[in-house]
Amino acid sequence: MHDDAMDQARAQEIANRWMMPTEESSYMGGLEKRPILASASGSTVVDTQGKEYLDFQSGQMGAALGHRHPRVMAAVRKATETFVHASNIMLNVPRLELHERLGKLLVPPLQKSLFLVTGSDTIEASVDLARKATGGLDILGLHDGLHGSTSYISRSLSFAWKRQQHASIAPGTSAILTPHCYQCPVASSFPKCEFLCLKASLELADANFTSRPAAVIAEPILSAGGVIVPPPGYFQAVRRACEERGMLLIFDEAQTGLGKTGQMFGFQHEGVVPDIMALSKHFGGGVPISAVCTTAEIAKRAVASGFFATRSHAADPMLCAAGVASIDAIVEEDLAGRAARIELRMKSALAEMAKRYELIGDIRGRGVLLGLELVTDREQKTPANKEAAVVENRCLEAGLILQLRGTGPGRKNVLRFVPPMTTTDAEIDRALSILDDALAVAVGRSPGVGMRGAVPTPAR
Ligand SMILES: Cc1ncc(COP(=O)(O)O)c(C=O)c1O
Repeated sequence: MHDDAMDQARAQEIANRWMMPTEESSYMGGLEKRPILASASGSTVVDTQGKEYLDFQSGQMGAALGHRHPRVMAAVRKATETFVHASNIMLNVPRLELHERLGKLLVPPLQKSLFLVTGSDTIEASVDLARKATGGLDILGLHDGLHGSTSYISRSLSFAWKRQQHASIAPGTSAILTPHCYQCPVASSFPKCEFLCLKASLELADANFTSRPAAVIAEPILSAGGVIVPPPGYFQAVRRACEERGMLLIFDEAQTGLGKTGQMFGFQHEGVVPDIMALSKHFGGGVPISAVCTTAEIAKRAVASGFFATRSHAADPMLCAAGVASIDAIVEEDLAGRAARIELRMKSALAEMAKRYELIGDIRGRGVLLGLELVTDREQKTPANKEAAVVENRCLEAGLILQLRGTGPGRKNVLRFVPPMTTTDAEIDRALSILDDALAVAVGRSPGVGMRGAVPTPAR
């Protein structure tokens, strides 16, 4: 769709006059200088000038089924003709269907769910649930974790965003070290370290607890913090630490749940089932609905202590119907299997690129949540922020959207790829070819002399 009426000049005018905040120095400032999106379908988004981009960010990670998945759109269309919004003090059919559909998908003892709207909502509710179920207060989160942007709890636990930016910090929230083996926070190495980062963190946490501890919260893969995959056994050690202290384990599966890592849930790679799991992002196939899941026993205990969580749009039939359709698509189209195959294809091509570009320091992630850490030298692992920005810009110019993330202050050197699970092999190969050219430009070589257009097909 070509929309001359909404060009850059008009966007600038609207931004200057009506939007907040727009200064380039502000968080998310300067957006009006970027492409203005007009439509989307599958893995492609189109701007107002008619230019197409491969969306390897899956929107804001909510389009992991591809933009406008036909099944989800059909469910939404049907809802617009029957029932869009409903009171949450009465049940409705899609809401009941979604509880059942999700409940059957959960790994026991997870069984019960409640619905909310956003990911941040689920973190507020998960923390409250853990506190009510344990009678504790203190919550520990990984220091590169990100759990949301509501002004109090979820931002307080989002250590990957600077906490100084927030108006106030919730009591009983503190950080433990992220087990980022590529840039080890305690200058050790795995497995020799025997989870030294966790041991040191827990010693400090035990000294710092202000009350009874309630929970540890973590993303199975720390996405915004730089696509960090904790080493094998780490979450089992966290689980033991929780049990020793009467704490619950909360997994925030906003970005790792529902197929994206190649398993239905990210925790299935870890041999640990959490006590509480939060789902959001693509749960509604692109429309906002989220869920908190827990065991029958924890739910009972928390509710007996007065726990409840809801929102005005939490049980809307249209959103719940989209949730049902999205689960059906994930299961029946085996999107987890597809995510695993995309991982193989991409990692194999990225490993080949790493032979040609010293800039590539580390390749990591699972399924369709992948990261490439760029460094100026592999020995010192110095963050290649400048080169990463060149790659991001060149990719955007050539029609590939990805995002830059970092693994700590002053670092913006991780290219994050989150293609929809429905992305075709041809689209993956096109994205890799664009990336290859962009890496060439970043290191001062001519684009197109590498393996452009010749991405090897990995063994399945
Ligand atoms: C892991 C994780 N949890 C929670 C959230 C918050 O979700 P929302 O923006 O829907 O509130 C995000 C947002 O990016 C996230 O990445």
